[in-house]
Amino acid sequence: MLATVSKNFFIYASQNKPLNKAAKKWGLKFGAAQVVAGMTIESAIKQVKKQNQKGLMCTLDHLGEFVSSREEALEATDYNIRTLNAMAEAGVKSNLSVKMTQLGLDIDRDFCIDNMHQILRTAKKHNNFVRIDMEDYSHCQVTLDILRELRETYDNVGTVIQSYLYRSEQDVNDLKGIPLRLVKGAYKESSEVAFQEKKDVDENYMVIIKKHLLSGSYTAIASHDHNIISNVKEFVEENNIPRDQFEFQMLYGFRADMQLNLVKEGYRMRVYVPFGNDWFGYFMRRLAERPQNITFALKGFFSK
Ligand code: FDA
Repeated sequence: MLATVSKNFFIYASQNKPLNKAAKKWGLKFGAAQVVAGMTIESAIKQVKKQNQKGLMCTLDHLGEFVSSREEALEATDYNIRTLNAMAEAGVKSNLSVKMTQLGLDIDRDFCIDNMHQILRTAKKHNNFVRIDMEDYSHCQVTLDILRELRETYDNVGTVIQSYLYRSEQDVNDLKGIPLRLVKGAYKESSEVAFQEKKDVDENYMVIIKKHLLSGSYTAIASHDHNIISNVKEFVEENNIPRDQFEFQMLYGFRADMQLNLVKEGYRMRVYVPFGNDWFGYFMRRLAERPQNITFALKGFFSK
């Protein structure tokens, strides 16, 4: 009961525009610095270098929510291009994750595609890869349509499929051969489109993981769930899936010990490293997912 109330509260806060706007001026508060790698490209690259030294690869995500003007979307595009250039200059092992609503998807589809082209051209120049994060259900179909369009020109782009959606198994079938990050799903979706029970989401998660791995496609398993990770380890052993055909991914600041253990065991492990001043929505969604994370927030709050 308490968990449901707190989940709803944090989801509500994550979507609250005035709060998100105000938080940009606060600096990283409430312990957010434990899960957000600073406000600037320089601070993010510094954290990526530290992760690389430990054998972990990264994906950088310049945080951004509620982009409603072309100007903001162009700024975000430019920022992503500068991030790709900075990564290449620093020689770090990291790719880039982007959200298309940050690049103008809700303003004008073609404008967003133009922005994606610019980012992908830069990534290609640096021999790097861009992952399109999956957002809420209302953006799922358009994200996949744009991905297909972009894949006609670029092979260095992939996306994310969420196992809580009923459609995900069909999507994984249709996206055979395309690098996918598979996740459980982070948004609040209705029972019309998504499984509501954890058991069903977990079951479907293993279904889509197995399907993508068996099709020979590069698969990123992005989860902090030790049960899922053990099941994947067993499955890849039994089916002789080579270790360079998949990677585990976890978020910056979560289960760092488990991340390192996977590296020690010889698995590819990538850390999703968010940064930037638009940290509030991201931080609230993490608290919604796992209310225990509230200790982060409380520790941070009381240490101010
Ligand atoms: P889940 O939250 O289901 O937890 C399962 C169990 O694992 C828990 O009961 C607990 O025992 C253990 N556990 C989990 N977290 C723990 C912790 N921090 N410490 C200790 N134990 C813990 N979503 C989306 O919709 N679109 C996207 O593009 C992405 N991208 C993305 C990238 C990466 C790298 C990650 C890791 C995740 C995403 N997600 C996402 C989020 C994803 O959909 C999902 O909401 C979260 O990862 C939470 O689900 P988990 O599978 O991690 O475990």
